[in-house]
Amino acid sequence: MRPLLAIALLFAVALGTADPAAAQTGPNDTCLMCHSDSNAKGASGNSIGLDKAKFKASAHGALGLKCTDCHTDTSVDKLPHPKKLKTATCTGCHEQAVKDYASTAHAKGRAGGNAVAATCADCHGPAHEVMKSDNPASRTNRANIETTCGSCHGNDKLVAQAHLPGGNVQAKYHDSIHDKTLLSKSGYASQAPTCVSCHGAHSILSSKDQASAVSRTNVAQTCGSCHQREKIVFDKGTHGKLAHAGMTAAPNCSDCHGAHGIQKSTAPAWQVAVVGACGNCHEDIVKSYRLTYHGKVTDLGFSQIATCASCHGAHDVRSASDPLSPTHPLNRTEMCSTCHANATAQFASWDPHPEPANPQRSLSLYYTSIFMNVLLAGVFTFFGLHTILWAYRSFRVVQERRKGGRH
Ligand code: HEC
Ligand code: HEC
Ligand code: HEC
Ligand code: HEC
Ligand code: HEC
Ligand code: HEC
Ligand code: HEC
Ligand code: HEC
Ligand code: HEC
Ligand code: HEC
Ligand code: HEC
Repeated sequence: MRPLLAIALLFAVALGTADPAAAQTGPNDTCLMCHSDSNAKGASGNSIGLDKAKFKASAHGALGLKCTDCHTDTSVDKLPHPKKLKTATCTGCHEQAVKDYASTAHAKGRAGGNAVAATCADCHGPAHEVMKSDNPASRTNRANIETTCGSCHGNDKLVAQAHLPGGNVQAKYHDSIHDKTLLSKSGYASQAPTCVSCHGAHSILSSKDQASAVSRTNVAQTCGSCHQREKIVFDKGTHGKLAHAGMTAAPNCSDCHGAHGIQKSTAPAWQVAVVGACGNCHEDIVKSYRLTYHGKVTDLGFSQIATCASCHGAHDVRSASDPLSPTHPLNRTEMCSTCHANATAQFASWDPHPEPANPQRSLSLYYTSIFMNVLLAGVFTFFGLHTILWAYRSFRVVQERRKGGRH
C-alpha cells in the first residue's frame, strides 16, 4: 500500500466515511484493511504490511489471537491509532520462555553488544508467522533445527564476523553419525540428536558454564540420556570414577568421540584417530606404544592392529593391577589371544609399552638399546670418515692431473 493511500484510509476511518465493522467479519479485519498489503509502508518508509494468509496459519492466528492482544495500545474502537506505538513483546504471555531466554548465551551475547546472537524471531520466525514446533514448516521443528541454528553457526561469513565460538559447527555435525542417522531411512523418527537435544533450546549456555548441558561435568549425563549402556560401563571404570569425583583432567565422552563430528565407532579412520585422543593425556604412554609393531602400523592408518582400546577396552579402562582389567597379568594371555590365536603366557609377557631409556622397566631392553645406539653411532662415524677421506683423495687426484703430473 502506498503511504498516501494508507494515510487517506486513516482519515476515512477517522471521519467515519467508512464503517469497517459493517463490511468486515472480525476485529482483525479492521486492522488488516490497512495492514494486509505486504508492501505497505509507513510515512518514514518502514514496512507496516503483513501477510494475512501467513498470519492466519500461524500459531497465534490459528488460535484466534487479536492484533490488539499484542499491540495493546491499539483498539478497533479508537482509530486512527497514533503513528508511533509501543513495541509489542512476547513477555506478557510467555513469561517463562522470556525469563529462560534471558539467561542464555544468546541473550548474554546481545547484552554484550553481539547483534548477531539469536532472538525469538531468529528461531521462531517473524512475529506474525510464528508456528508451533510440531508444524513441519516451523523453524523449530525437529527436521529444521539444523538449518535454523546453521543459519548462523553454519554460515562462514557470520562465523568470522561475529566470532562464533567453535567455528562452523554445522559442517562438522553434518558429517556425524548423528546427522547421518537423521538423514537416513530411520530419519527424524529415530532418537538421534539435533542441536537442541544436546544444548537445549531456551537453556543454551557456553560449555564453560558449569550449568550447561555440555559442560565437562554434565556431558556424560547428556550423552548418557540416550547411550545408557555406555554410560553405565563408563561410570564403573577409572575414567568415569575420576570424572565423578570432580577431576577435570579425567576424560568425558567428547574428549574421545568429539562433540559434533562423532563417527561410527567401527570407522577405521576414527579408531586410529582415537589413539591421538588418548595421547592428549597419556603422552609418554603413546610414545612407548609408537615404538611397538602395533603402534607403528596404526600410525600408518591401519586399524586392524591393536589400538589402545583393543587391549584396555573403551569405557571401563582400569589399572593393570585391577583383576577386572584385560591388562591384568591373569587376563593378559586371553586378551592377546583375541587376535594372536596361539598366544601363550610367555608371548603375553611381551611389553606393550617399552621404555628403552628406563632400566627399571627392563634391564635387557635398556642394555640392548644402548648397544644398538653405540653400534649405530659407530657405523655412522666409520663410514662418515671413510667418505670424507675418499672425497679428499679424489680431489687430490684431480688436482694432480691438472698439473699434468699423473696420467
Ligand atoms: C486506516 C488505516 C489503518 C488502520 C485501520 C490501522 N492502522 Fe496501524 N498503521 C497505519 C499506518 C498508516 C501506519 C504507519 C504510521 C507511520 O509510521 O507513519 C500504521 C502503523 C501501525 C503499527 C506500527 C507502529 C509503529 O510504531 O511503527 C502498528 C503496530 C499498527 N499500525 C497496528 C495496528 C493495529 C493493531 C490496528 C488495528 C487495531 C491498526 N494498526 C489499524 C494505518 C492503519
Ligand atoms: C503474537 C503477538 C502479535 C500479534 C497477534 C500481532 N502482532 Fe503485530 N507485531 C508483533 C511484534 C512482536 C511486532 C514487532 C515489534 C513491534 O514493532 O512492535 C509486531 C509488529 C507489527 C507492525 C509493525 C511492522 C512490522 O511488521 O514490524 C505492524 C504494522 C503490526 N505488527 C500489525 C499487526 C496486525 C495488523 C495484527 C493483526 C492482524 C498484528 N500485528 C498481530 C506482535 C504481534
Ligand atoms: C536459539 C533458538 C531459540 C530462541 C532464541 C528462542 N526459542 Fe523458543 N523454542 C526453540 C525451540 C527449538 C523450541 C522447541 C521446543 C524444544 O525443542 O525444546 C522452542 C519452544 C518455544 C515455545 C513452546 C514451548 C514452550 O517452552 O512453551 C515457546 C512459547 C517459545 N519457544 C517462545 C520463545 C520466546 C518468547 C523466545 C524469546 C524470548 C524464544 N522462544 C527464543 C528455540 C528458540
Ligand atoms: C497475547 C499473548 C501472546 C503473545 C504476546 C505472544 N504469544 Fe505466543 N502464544 C500465545 C498462545 C495463547 C499460544 C498457544 C499456547 C499453546 O498452544 O501452548 C502461543 C503459542 C506460541 C508458540 C507455539 C508453542 C508450541 O506449542 O509450539 C510459539 C513458538 C510462540 N507462541 C512464540 C511467541 C513469540 C516468539 C512471541 C513474541 C513475538 C509470542 N509468542 C507472543 C500467546 C501469545
Ligand atoms: C541469528 C544467529 C544465531 C542463531 C540462529 C543461533 N545462534 Fe547460537 N550463537 C550466536 C551468536 C552470535 C553467539 C555468540 C554470543 C556471544 O557473543 O557470546 C551464539 C552462541 C551460542 C552458543 C554458546 C557458545 C559459547 O561458548 O559462548 C551455543 C552453544 C549456541 N549458540 C548454540 C545454538 C543453537 C543450538 C542454535 C539453534 C537452536 C543457535 N545457537 C542458533 C548466533 C546464533
Ligand atoms: C537424543 C539421543 C542421543 C544423544 C543425546 C546422543 N546420542 Fe549418540 N547416537 C544416538 C543415536 C540414535 C545414534 C545412531 C544409532 C546407533 O548407532 O546407536 C547414535 C550414535 C552414536 C555413536 C555411534 C555408535 C556406533 O554404533 O558406533 C556414538 C559413538 C555416539 N552416538 C556418541 C555420542 C556422544 C559422545 C554423545 C554426547 C556428546 C551422544 N552420542 C549423544 C542418540 C543420541
Ligand atoms: C551430541 C551432542 C551435540 C550435538 C548434537 C550438538 N552439539 Fe554443540 N556441543 C556439544 C558439546 C559436548 C560441546 C562442548 C565443546 C566440546 O566438547 O567440543 C558443544 C559445543 C558447541 C558450541 C561451541 C561453543 C561452546 O560452548 O564451546 C557451539 C556454538 C555449538 N556446540 C553449537 C551447536 C549447533 C549449532 C549444533 C547443531 C548443528 C550442535 N551444537 C549440535 C554437543 C553437541
Ligand atoms: C577414553 C575414551 C572414551 C571415552 C571417555 C568414551 N568413549 Fe565411547 N568409545 C570409545 C572407543 C575407543 C570406542 C570403540 C569401542 C570398540 O571399538 O570396541 C567407543 C564406542 C562407543 C559407542 C559405540 C558402541 C560401543 O559401545 O562400542 C558409543 C555409543 C559410545 N562409545 C558412547 C560413549 C559415551 C556416551 C561416552 C560417555 C559416557 C563415551 N562413549 C566415552 C572411547 C571412549
Ligand atoms: C582427558 C584426558 C584423558 C584421556 C583422553 C584419556 N585418559 Fe586415561 N586417564 C586419564 C587420567 C587423568 C587418569 C588417571 C590418572 C593416571 O593414572 O594417569 C587415566 C587413567 C587411565 C588408565 C588407568 C591407569 C591407572 O593407573 O589406573 C588407563 C589404562 C587409561 N587411562 C587408558 C586410556 C586410554 C586407552 C585412553 C584412550 C582410549 C585414555 N586413557 C584417554 C586421562 C585421560
Ligand atoms: C597390546 C596391548 C596394549 C596396547 C595396544 C596398549 N596397551 Fe596400555 N597397557 C597394556 C598392558 C598389558 C599394560 C600393563 C603393563 C604394564 O605394567 O605396563 C598397559 C599399561 C598401560 C597404562 C599404565 C596404567 C596401568 O597400570 O594400566 C596406561 C595408562 C596405558 N597402558 C594406556 C595405553 C594407551 C593410551 C595406549 C594407546 C596409545 C595403550 N595403552 C596401548 C596393554 C596395551
Ligand atoms: C586387536 C588385535 C590385537 C591384539 C588385541 C593384540 N595384537 Fe599383537 N598384533 C596384532 C596384529 C594384527 C599384528 C601383526 C602381525 C601378526 O599378524 O601377527 C600384531 C603384531 C604383534 C607383534 C609383532 C609381530 C609378531 O607376531 O611377533 C607382537 C610382539 C605382538 N603383536 C604382541 C601382542 C601382545 C603381547 C598382545 C597382548 C598384550 C597383543 N599383541 C595384542 C593384533 C593384535
